Amino acid sequence: MTRVAAYRVPDHVPPALVHDFDYFADSAKSGDVQAAHAALHGTAPDIFYTPRNGGHWMATRMADVQTIMTTPEVFSSVGAVPMPSWMKISLPPQDMDAPEHLRYRLLLLQFLAPREIRKLEGQVHQLITELIDTVLDKRQCDFVAEVAVPLPVKTFMGLMHMDLARYAEFVRWANGILGATSTWQRMPHFFRMTRYLKSLIRARKREPKDDPISMLLAAEVNGARLGDKRVLEVCNLLFLAGLDTVTNAMTFMTMHLASHPEQQQQLREAPEKIPAAIDEMMRRYSFPNVPRRVIRETKLGDATLLPGDIVISSLAASGTDPRNVPNPMEVDFDRPKSPHVGFNTGPHTCAGVHLARLELRIFLEEWLRRVPPFQIAPGWHPHARGGPVMALENLHLVW
Ligand code: HEM
Repeated sequence: MTRVAAYRVPDHVPPALVHDFDYFADSAKSGDVQAAHAALHGTAPDIFYTPRNGGHWMATRMADVQTIMTTPEVFSSVGAVPMPSWMKISLPPQDMDAPEHLRYRLLLLQFLAPREIRKLEGQVHQLITELIDTVLDKRQCDFVAEVAVPLPVKTFMGLMHMDLARYAEFVRWANGILGATSTWQRMPHFFRMTRYLKSLIRARKREPKDDPISMLLAAEVNGARLGDKRVLEVCNLLFLAGLDTVTNAMTFMTMHLASHPEQQQQLREAPEKIPAAIDEMMRRYSFPNVPRRVIRETKLGDATLLPGDIVISSLAASGTDPRNVPNPMEVDFDRPKSPHVGFNTGPHTCAGVHLARLELRIFLEEWLRRVPPFQIAPGWHPHARGGPVMALENLHLVW
């Protein structure tokens, strides 16, 4: 039994594959979460075992991450996030495997498919216009609080036909849940949001509308209605998967453009490059760390993984894998193709990818069209957050 920092390493892990890395604390230490993950390519084995956070494998190579994500019969999504039994929260379809997974995923695609998302274009456009109106004349802003949080929260509330008058409460719950550093901090906000969602489910049962909750209440899986509890669980997942992620992507991209005026200019002059630029920045600034649970013994590179092992795939490290892309830390909007798995790959590929891309595209188009050349405010220090969804929690801009 090898010991690192007083934690246990299981016997099937050879000492050469042990690397002490805390994906919460070590990701955030330098203020640059992606650089911390990219550095693993030079300092750690391709796949390594860290005794931190309960002990888990960490995959950093693009090829390994693709194997993990496209082999669900070995790398399961069920029970991949260890939780105490008293707070087990189900998040269908993200924590499901085939065949159940696909049945639930298809339900979500009824309102997340491209043709449905295109209908939200006008709404997203109006939201970003209003947000820019509130900051433009100040010539500065706290970008995260004033732009990157409100856009996805309001878009989500629009998608779910929620009462926009409750926006301030909703943001408080979202920040309380997503910004919490412990379960104890998170739970009261989670309960408040759950209470609100339950009241919404009751209202839609009384009076169905043309909205996702009514659609889920009317849907059947395996010949039976979902029931209120299941509908609530799907709503919880949409909330957890669709808000923080868009906020973080907007913040990383804006931080990059604020510190690269020539690339801001490039996109101002050629806005048709924005979709390719989104992919290139998603590659360089990927931020999810995605867990899977091994359910069959398997080999990955030099490692033998046993049933019950947890593997976390660093999408940030795979996007900056030098075996996959030349000069990986450089952002180049003219790369022939930006290979990344920022939205994951395989059966669990982000179901909200079309909504995320719509929000990012309209945000960049309007921000670059209306806001003059912007920079990072003097004296700004990044507050980075590690963990399953890595983030930059503050960004002060001036123009
Ligand atoms: C830039 C923004 C986003 C990023 C980077 C992102 C990333 C991801 C990733 C990496 C996964 C895979 C998780 C896993 O395999 O366990 C995922 C799944 C998912 N995402 Fe997103 N996401 C974003 C926005 C959204 C939005 C806006 C929504 C919808 C409101 C959404 C809904 C979902 C759902 C429902 C799943 C589960 C899919 C399944 O298990 O089949 N995401 N997302």
